[in-house]
Amino acid sequence: MGSDDKPLSGPDLERGIAWSELREGTPFVGHAQGEAVLLVRHGEQVFATGATCTHYSGPLGEGLIEGESVRSLGITRASACAPAKPSARPR
Ligand code: FES
Repeated sequence: MGSDDKPLSGPDLERGIAWSELREGTPFVGHAQGEAVLLVRHGEQVFATGATCTHYSGPLGEGLIEGESVRSLGITRASACAPAKPSARPR
């Protein structure tokens, strides 16, 4: 279970995934250390951030990728949502 008691989905990212599983600009959701993680490939880089919006816990894996940002389409689809910039880069 994730920190929000939602079941975790996708692969265990601590075990690694094939590069070919990541498609340019397409959200990929997995988990690490009990937390849902969103990965987005942008060229030769992969950005990672929590997969749950800090606003009303919308699923960022269903969000819109805009360059290096992800826009939540969670609970508040009809209202303006501030984009969240991915917070980590691969090592
Ligand atoms: S749930 Fe993400 S902006 Fe509202």
